Amino acid sequence: MGVLQDRVALVTGSSRGIGAAIATLFAREGARVAVHGRDEEALGAVRAAIEREGGAAMTVTGDVTKLSDVEALRARIEAGLGPVDILIANAGASLTKPGLLEEISEEGWRASVEANLTATFLTLKSFLPGMKQRRRGSIVTVSSAAARRPHPHSPIPYAAAKAGIQMLTQHAAAQVGPFGIRINCLAPETILTERNNEQIPEAQKAALVETHPIKRLGTPDDVARAALFLASDQSAWITGAIIDVSGGAVMV
Ligand SMILES: NC(=O)c1ccc[n+]([C@@H]2O[C@H](COP(=O)([O-])OP(=O)(O)OC[C@H]3O[C@@H](n4cnc5c(N)ncnc54)[C@H](OP(=O)(O)O)[C@@H]3O)[C@@H](O)[C@H]2O)c1
Repeated sequence: MGVLQDRVALVTGSSRGIGAAIATLFAREGARVAVHGRDEEALGAVRAAIEREGGAAMTVTGDVTKLSDVEALRARIEAGLGPVDILIANAGASLTKPGLLEEISEEGWRASVEANLTATFLTLKSFLPGMKQRRRGSIVTVSSAAARRPHPHSPIPYAAAKAGIQMLTQHAAAQVGPFGIRINCLAPETILTERNNEQIPEAQKAALVETHPIKRLGTPDDVARAALFLASDQSAWITGAIIDVSGGAVMV
């Protein structure tokens, strides 16, 4: 029996990267998982990998910056798997380059806030009422080390939007605790997703490693195991926490 046996979990943004690792681990731990994203081919591959291991999954698409899309995918999951017990609001994106504040375009700022803070808000807005009614639920939001301290390599709109997710998480935690719902937040440092592994030059990876007391970069599985702890009853008395998954590179 896995620690998430028979729970229904939605992992937004699980067609690749950190979300795919979380969805895969949760399925191994017995959850029936809704794998979500926009790229149907990538979604199908994650679902097939879960099913090959004997896990249960369905795929759902939708743009999490649009409430109507989130509501529609919630209805599809409820019809296909049942009501969601575990929600990982992982979908997000860094859409501008690091640089001077006055050179950030209005469009880049708005897109970053939409893709991270607004998307997380809309996801919680859609799923919380049902969880409150059922008086059960565990939610994990995803911030970033970029939101834990200013750093010249962090794009300001992304960092600010992710910092907003932290306060959103804590406000929600205070509101929904009395309904038996917990909500916590993960703040990962640079994670070696396939995309980062390809895009970050080797010399930059080596320099980044040196900023970590644990002398390696993080993996999607490092984040997935932290998400599993927060999603499961192992963390039954933890809510409103921001957990740095950073190899010690961030200590707040
Ligand atoms: N990787 C890191 O180093 C790192 C560090 C700190 C925090 N984070 C955060 O961790 C989360 C996952 O990061 P990642 O690196 O795994 O990202 P990724 O590889 O770029 O994957 C992002 C996922 O989110 C989905 N997504 C993005 N915007 C969406 C939207 N508007 N509607 C629906 N789906 C959307 C993508 O779907 P499709 O591709 O199917 O369209 C994809 O499944 C993000 O919130 C990111 O900000 C990452």
